[in-house]
Order: sequence, then structure tokens, then C-alpha cells
Amino acid sequence: MYVIANWKENLTASEAERWAEELNKELRMSASGDSSNLMNKGDTEIVVCPPLVLIPILRSHLSLPISHFSLGAQDVSKFEEGQYTGEVSAKMLKDFVDYVIVGHSERRKYFNETDEDVAKKSILALKHNLIPIVCVSNVEEAGRWRVEAGKETGCWKLDDVIFVYEPVEHISTGGEFHPDDPEHANLVAKKIKDKVGQDVQVLYGGSVNAENVKSFVSQPDVDGVLVGQASLDAKEFTTIIKTLKQENKKTI
Ligand code: PGA
Repeated sequence: MYVIANWKENLTASEAERWAEELNKELRMSASGDSSNLMNKGDTEIVVCPPLVLIPILRSHLSLPISHFSLGAQDVSKFEEGQYTGEVSAKMLKDFVDYVIVGHSERRKYFNETDEDVAKKSILALKHNLIPIVCVSNVEEAGRWRVEAGKETGCWKLDDVIFVYEPVEHISTGGEFHPDDPEHANLVAKKIKDKVGQDVQVLYGGSVNAENVKSFVSQPDVDGVLVGQASLDAKEFTTIIKTLKQENKKTI
């Protein structure tokens, strides 16, 4: 199971430091002995995707057994390298992170990213040993990713790709959470697997918080969650991780 934090364009360097310190404190407390000890990796992957400039801060301030956490970027260039001002390539990212989000609906909407761009980015990520976290708003978008990715050359395996079903209308807005119905999210996750391949992991994203996370991760076809707004609060994010670990334990 995955829990992915997407900070979007939020937090400054000092706020990121405080977030990391708070998380460290929570982890130490949980290590001093309860059943949902966060120090045990178990089958839960925790991936934090801050803005690029904050990655070094998290690397130095998350004084955790870092193997339990991975870092991810929120985007990657669709070009391999060259004269593309402002872009950061998959090859550059690989020195800092293991994952990268591609095709988030905010990038499709505000930066005009196309299905072709998203597929290109995914394949470049895979080529440089980054795991692409492909966000789609519906089954059709996942199907189009499959077609576009199939056109790209290179050796890659579907089971190295993570999908996130993120219905645009359920992404949180300014403090308001209005998630999808968990059973509907499960149905869409299953349809994405039917369409793209049974080997892919499909997560749910959109207004997930500490209160509702259990209703999503207890669904059989939902392999974790991507959390935006609620991940900015270290305490709430810790509660989300704990819930996920408890749910995971029941299924293994
Ligand atoms: P949210 O964001 O959890 O704030 O709804 C999810 C996302 O868009 O990544």
C-alpha cells in the first residue's frame, strides 16, 4: 500500500523544517511501543513529494530511518536534456528522488499538458529508474495513457507504474473536503486495472484526510492514497499513515 503526500505549491523552507521535525517527533512516539509502530516498514510505502527546492531540506531534516520514506518530485521534463529553460530532467531528478508525479489534473489544466506529454514523461522517468505516479481523472484517460505509452520506445514494465484515480471534482479546495464515494473509487480503480493491466497499483486521490482515509484503503482494489491538503499538517499525515498501516496489517 502507498501513501503519497503531494504538497503542491505550498510551504517554505522553514515550514518544511518544522513539518519534518513534527513528523520525527510523532515517529519517535510511535516507536516507543504501540501496535501501529511507524518505524516498521511493513508493506507500506510512504512517499513525500514537496516542491523541488524543498527536497534537500526533507532529506536532511527527516532524521528517520529514511528507508521507510521515499521522496518524489511533482513533475518532470518531457525532454531528455537540452535548451529547455526552467525544465528539470528525469536524469537530474534521479539523484534526489525515487518517484515522480506525472499528469496531475492541475498540470493538465494550467499548463496544457496532453496525454502525449504525460506518456513521454512517464517513459523518460522509467528510463531513468524513477517510478511514475500517473494521475488520471477517469478510466478513459488511463486507457489513452496506455495507448500513448505504447507508442514510446524503451523497455518498461507496467508493474513499475503507479496510477492514481483523481476525479477533478473531488480534489479539495481551500479547506473543503468533498471526496468521492469510496465504493465508486473502488469500482473505477478496478476498471483502470481491467483497462491498463492487472499488475498496476491504483491509488485514490481527492480530499483524503485522517477522517476518511480508512474508508478508501479498506476497499479491495484501492492500493493506497495520494493526499494533498491534509498532508501539509504533519500530525494529520501521521494519523493517515497509522490508519493505512493498521488496514494493511489486516490484509496481509
Ligand atoms: P487533495 O489533493 O487531497 O487536497 O484533494 C489531492 C491532489 O490533487 O493531489
